[in-house]
Amino acid sequence: MVDVAKPTKHTGKLLILTPGMGAVATTFIAGVEAVRRGLGRPFGSITQLQTIRLGRRSDNRQPLIRDLIDLAPLADLEFAGWDLFPDDAYESARRADVLNAATLDPLAGFLHGIKPMKAAFDREYVKRLDGPNVKPGKNKREWAEALRQDIKDSLVRAKAQRAVMVWCGSTEIHLTPAACHQSVAAFEAGMAANDPAISPSQLYAWAAIMEGVPYANGAPNLSADFPALEELATARAVPLCGKDFKTGQTLMKTILAPGFKARMLGIAGWFSTNILGNRDGEVLDDPDSFKAKEVTKSGVLDVILEPHLYPELYKELYHKVRINYYPPRGDAKEGWDNIDIFGWLGYPMQVKVDFLCRDSILAAPLVLDLALLLDFAKRSGRSGVQEWLSFFFKSPHVTAGHVAEHDLFIQHFRLKNTLRVMAGEEPITHLSENFAEF
Ligand SMILES: NC(=O)c1ccc[n+]([C@@H]2O[C@H](COP(=O)([O-])OP(=O)(O)OC[C@H]3O[C@@H](n4cnc5c(N)ncnc54)[C@H](O)[C@@H]3O)[C@@H](O)[C@H]2O)c1
Repeated sequence: MVDVAKPTKHTGKLLILTPGMGAVATTFIAGVEAVRRGLGRPFGSITQLQTIRLGRRSDNRQPLIRDLIDLAPLADLEFAGWDLFPDDAYESARRADVLNAATLDPLAGFLHGIKPMKAAFDREYVKRLDGPNVKPGKNKREWAEALRQDIKDSLVRAKAQRAVMVWCGSTEIHLTPAACHQSVAAFEAGMAANDPAISPSQLYAWAAIMEGVPYANGAPNLSADFPALEELATARAVPLCGKDFKTGQTLMKTILAPGFKARMLGIAGWFSTNILGNRDGEVLDDPDSFKAKEVTKSGVLDVILEPHLYPELYKELYHKVRINYYPPRGDAKEGWDNIDIFGWLGYPMQVKVDFLCRDSILAAPLVLDLALLLDFAKRSGRSGVQEWLSFFFKSPHVTAGHVAEHDLFIQHFRLKNTLRVMAGEEPITHLSENFAEF
């Protein structure tokens, strides 16, 4: 048995903070309220629906995850967020057009009550957006301190003892770690000096960690995945995870690719193209924001397929990812994959996937699961990078020197074993106790 800290009990309210109150955040918030009122079911959420086997199969112990570990119940969740557009959660959800009026109107009173706080926003980092609900001034340190105050004030307003932050803001431009990201001291000096390498999402992450609030990054941009914030999170006993919610095409890719590899089928090419017309698509129409997305979307196949181990199967793989902004579709994205595979004696075959998905419908349950699991991780004494939450991300944030795992099934296996261990149960190997029996 692995020795783990006993989690403190959930009591009171848990506040979920979302920088960004667009399609994903409002679909999540409205969805939780709909479920609480018995108007819908939380499909897609493992914390709400999934069971977890404990002990031997014959023991017949299969509790729900939420009955094994002490997660905050939906009834105890409160919400607050920031956005550069002043629309409240109802108006923003109507604009995003993911959930229809029949779903949203019964929740209107509740959603009108969630109004965005002023954003720490700079167009340099999201070129396609501009809105009036922004913090005054330009100094990054002052913005970050104002965000800390917002967190404190929101906790008081919500009568909550604890909070979790999930970045649901737009994809910022592609940045790589610079000198100011290498230590806490350098980062704090960088904020004071308005270092251009520090984007607004990094300020939210810093503010969250300083307030003891766990942080998840749902977008592909650099936000907390660098030494300064990893060090700060460890020092302040705050769990961190990211990045870029695994939904849509990448979810499919990380389901299919492990299957081809398990059967030793080769892949010559994988062409992925998408059309989407929501605000996220508009932001990604800017080449700098698209670059951040391209990096997180493109990395997955190499890690899953291990071409260095299987050069004849995967070394020549041509992988191309395209995202096209196409307004008529709104949030109802369509993603096509053409996969050129080959089998016995090299004979070619093709797999075509046409996924008519709803991005935010896939992302909303991930926000819920991440918020509840990060809060539980914090109460269990976990801090710093939480690799076991890779399951939820396209580009998992891992500790320096570790290789990110992309295979959805390995990620799932690890997530469940981590939960078993955190609950004081034995991890499961799927080996029969008696090898002779198989
Ligand atoms: N929908 C999905 O399935 C999915 C999957 C993976 C990642 N993501 C990422 O999640 C994020 C949210 O997606 P979405 O579809 O809700 O986009 P969206 O455009 O509908 O919402 C993002 C919101 O963030 C706001 N924003 C931007 N910068 C901000 C800042 N500095 N402070 C506060 N608010 C800010 C915008 O005004 C906008 O309202 C995007 O970065 C997207 O790439 C979404």
